[in-house]
Amino acid sequence: MCGIVGFIGEEQAAPILLDGLARLEYRGYDSAGVAVYDRENNALSVHKAKGRLKVLSDLLQGGAAVEGTIGIGHTRWATHGAPSDVNSHPQVSQRGKIAVVHNGIIENYAELKAFLLANGVEFRSETDTEVIAQLIEYFYRGDILTAVNRVLHRIQGAYALGILCVDTPDQLIAVRKDSPLILGYGDGCSFLASDVTAIIRHTREISYMEDGEVAVLTRTGIQCYDHLMQPVQKEVVRVDWEIDAAEKGGYEHFMFKEIMEQPDALRRCISPRIRDGEVFFEDFVFDADYIRNIDRIFIVACGSSYHVGMVGKYTLERLTRKPVEVSLASEFRYMDPIIDERTLVVVISQSGETLDTMAALREARRLGAKILSIVNVVGSSIARESDQVLYTWAGPEIAVATTKGYTTQLAMVDLLGLYFARVLGTIQPEEYREVLTGLSELPEKMERVLQDRDGVQYLASQYFNHRSIFFVGRNLDYALGLEGSLKLKEISYIHSEAYASGELKHGTISLIEDGTLVVALGTYGKLFEKAMSNVVEVKSRGADVLALTTESRREEMARTANAVITIPDVSDILLPSLGVVPLQLFAYYVALMNGCDIDKPRNLAKSVTVE
Ligand code: G6P
Repeated sequence: MCGIVGFIGEEQAAPILLDGLARLEYRGYDSAGVAVYDRENNALSVHKAKGRLKVLSDLLQGGAAVEGTIGIGHTRWATHGAPSDVNSHPQVSQRGKIAVVHNGIIENYAELKAFLLANGVEFRSETDTEVIAQLIEYFYRGDILTAVNRVLHRIQGAYALGILCVDTPDQLIAVRKDSPLILGYGDGCSFLASDVTAIIRHTREISYMEDGEVAVLTRTGIQCYDHLMQPVQKEVVRVDWEIDAAEKGGYEHFMFKEIMEQPDALRRCISPRIRDGEVFFEDFVFDADYIRNIDRIFIVACGSSYHVGMVGKYTLERLTRKPVEVSLASEFRYMDPIIDERTLVVVISQSGETLDTMAALREARRLGAKILSIVNVVGSSIARESDQVLYTWAGPEIAVATTKGYTTQLAMVDLLGLYFARVLGTIQPEEYREVLTGLSELPEKMERVLQDRDGVQYLASQYFNHRSIFFVGRNLDYALGLEGSLKLKEISYIHSEAYASGELKHGTISLIEDGTLVVALGTYGKLFEKAMSNVVEVKSRGADVLALTTESRREEMARTANAVITIPDVSDILLPSLGVVPLQLFAYYVALMNGCDIDKPRNLAKSVTVE
C-alpha cells in the first residue's frame, strides 16, 4: 500500500526511481509519479500518471527522458481523493519549491487545509499529502529542516515521507511515523524506500527508521535525528537474502513461484527450531514461570494471518489447555478487550507493518500484556515492538495473496504450541514426538502435494466459470476453508464464502441449487463422518461437490463427492498446512483461467498501512 523510493547520487535518478517503484508494485497501487531536481531550470520536474507504472514508465522512456540525479518516486493507493493524475504523488507546493511523497494518512488534514486556504494557499488536489507540501512551503524561511520540523509538530496521523526542496538540491529528507521507511547506504549515493526490495539491487547496507525520526540524505551519507532533532547514530544492517528471492525466476507469477517455494520456506522456518528432538527458540525471553502463569492467550491479526490465528486457536488450546481467543486486529482496537499482565498476546503478521495489527499490539501492551509476534519481514515495526519475535524466514513475499507467508506462520504456531505444551506438561511424550516428526517431514509431504498440481489444474478448468462458490468444513477444516475461500475471491473475483458445516442448515443451504459448487473440506479424521453427511446434504440439493480429504479416506469420499483431491495423512494439527496447498493452487488456476491480474488483484494491497 503506497510505495516510496528516493535516490541521491551521481547517476540519473529517474530510471533508478522507476525500477524501485516496479519492485514495490506488489504492495498495491493505482497511480504513480516521480519528482526529480532539474538543475538546468532550477526547478522540480514532476511526472505523474494514473494506472499501472508502465504508463508512467513509457511516458518517461523508462526514466531516460528525465535529467537529474536526485529525486523521489511513489506508487499511490488512493485514500483521500480518487485515483487520478492530479491526486498522484509527488504533491508539490504552490510555488513549486517542495515535493512530497507520502505513505499513510494525515488525520487532521481538513483543519490544516482550512488554515492554509484562509491564508491564501491554493490547492490542486484532494489529497491529505498536498497539505504537507503546502505547509512546509508556508513555514519555509530558507531552512528546510526547520520548516519540516514545524510541520511535524502540527500533523497528526501515520506517515512515511520523502521530501525534496528545490533550494537544497543536494539533499533529500525522510521522515517516519507509524509507516515503514528504510534508508540505504550506497557508494556515493543514498536511498530511502518503503522496503528493501526497492533498493537491494543497489545496496545491502540499510537502516530502519524509528518513529519520529528525520533523516537527511546526501551523496556522501545519511544523518538521522530523533523527534527533538538531536542527532542519532543509526545501526547499519546487512540484508543477506539473495536478489533472486525477489525476482520471478522464470515463473509467470510471483504467486505461483511462492506456492512452489513453500517446502523450502518451511525448511528454513522449522529446521533451526528443532534441536535434539526438542523445539528450540534462540534467546526466548519467556521462561517456564511466565508460561505457567499465563491465564489466557489472545491472537490478533488481519487477513490470512487472522486465518492462521483461527487454526492457531484449535492448535494452542489443544496443546496447551489454555483458553485462546482470536480477534481481528481492526476489531480488537475498539472492543475494550479484557487483558492484563497474565495475558499473552500473539500478534501474527507477514509484513510486520499492518497498521491495525500494530495498533492492536500497542493497545495490548498498554493494558499490560506481553507480546509475542510471528513475523516474516525482519526488522519490521511489529517485530521491533514485541517482547519476543519469532521470525518465519519465509523470504520476501511479493504476490499480494499470501501463500508461503501463511504456511510458515502455521508452522510457527505449531512449534510454539509444542514448546508451551512441553513446559506445561500438557502433552504426552508420544504425541510430542509424533507432531514434531510430522513437522520436520512437512516440507517433503508438501512437495508431494505440489507434484499433484495437474489434477488441481484440471479441476479448475471444470469449475472456473462458476460465479459463487462455498467452502464448508468443521473445526480445523472450517479454519482452513476461511483461507481457501479468501484466496479464491481475492485473486479471481469470484464470490465465495466459508461456512462452518454445522451452520449450513441455519441459512446457507437455501443458496444451494443445481450446479452450485461446494468445496467440502473433510481432512480432519475425527469429524470425517460429519463432513460426509454435509456432503450428502448439499449433493441431494443439487450441488457439485469438490472434496478435499486425506489419502486414506479418498475412496470413501469418492463414493459421494463429484471430485476428490487428497493430501497425505499427517497428525491432525498439521492438516491445514498441507490442506491449504491445493486450495491455493485451485485459486491460482481459476484466476489464471479467468484472465485475472494474479499478483496484483484490483483494489488490494500487500501491506496495509492505513486503517
Ligand atoms: C493484506 C494482504 C494479505 C494479508 C493481510 C495481513 O490484506 O493482502 O495477504 O494476509 O494484509 O497482512 P500481514 O502482513 O499483517 O500478515
